[in-house]
Amino acid sequence: MNNLSVDHLLGIKYLEKSDIELIFKTADNFKKIISQPIKKVPSLRDITIANLFFENSTRTKLSFELAEKRLSADIINFSSVSSSIKKGETLLDTVNNILAMKVDIVVIRHPNPGASVFLSRNIDAKIINAGDGTHEHPTQALLDSYSIREKYGEVKGKKIVVIGDILHSRVALSNIFCLRKLGAEVRVCGPSSLMPKNLESLQVEHFSDLKEALEWCDVANVLRIQLERQDVNYFPSLREYAMVYGIDKNVLDGLKKDITIMHPGPINRGVELSSDVADSSHSIILDQVENGVAIRMAVLYLLAGKIKLN
Ligand code: CP
Repeated sequence: MNNLSVDHLLGIKYLEKSDIELIFKTADNFKKIISQPIKKVPSLRDITIANLFFENSTRTKLSFELAEKRLSADIINFSSVSSSIKKGETLLDTVNNILAMKVDIVVIRHPNPGASVFLSRNIDAKIINAGDGTHEHPTQALLDSYSIREKYGEVKGKKIVVIGDILHSRVALSNIFCLRKLGAEVRVCGPSSLMPKNLESLQVEHFSDLKEALEWCDVANVLRIQLERQDVNYFPSLREYAMVYGIDKNVLDGLKKDITIMHPGPINRGVELSSDVADSSHSIILDQVENGVAIRMAVLYLLAGKIKLN
């Protein structure tokens, strides 16, 4: 297969396994290209992309922007902080005004789950979800699985535990979908108060004990505690969370095996991870960031291939 089965990247749940494999194969080629002295290719020279960020972002925003520049696309950047959203303009009006400027692809991050699905149904452009509330963050999950594939050769059969605030995490949900589609074993770990009620329907087991989880896994994908999404206290204090679920060098040294540590960022250093773990040889956190550019180039390239140019 050399084409995606979808017209937009709204979530991993909408992708076939073959879509993920095609994205990885395409990313392999782009990774080779961006490792060379001349990193730019003309692939998206006639394509205009709008990056619409209605929520804060460092990695995803910069990574998409770099991926688009490496592909020679024309880009416009929109940030809700300095926009007419503040004057009451709706999401649809904002996007339609941007589309009137002849935009082909929209990359959107939005605090509301379903914002990207809503756009895909209402506007005539390819939509890429760069994170929508607590719903999905598909390019993060793709770059996470790609980084596991790079480290171990394949994702199939690997044991991955996602640790922390699963309830509020779009990264957790997209990772669970992506890893399971690729044949990995996925479990979660954290306080019961931070677990979604539908874990059983996701077919994911829960560890409440961190050491047990780390002894089981090959890879621990450690998530940030998302205080900005927590309307009530889900645990007594960050200090107590760190004491029970924080991973430091002592925790890793106490394991019977070596494991790989991942984190989507931003890291709360000293809470979910200590610096001596985040910056250790166990960590592939910066490889994840590097791979994000190649993955996003692949997604943009494959979706652009579905645009009918007049
Ligand atoms: N991983 C991630 O989504 O980071 P940003 O919020 O900085 O984009």
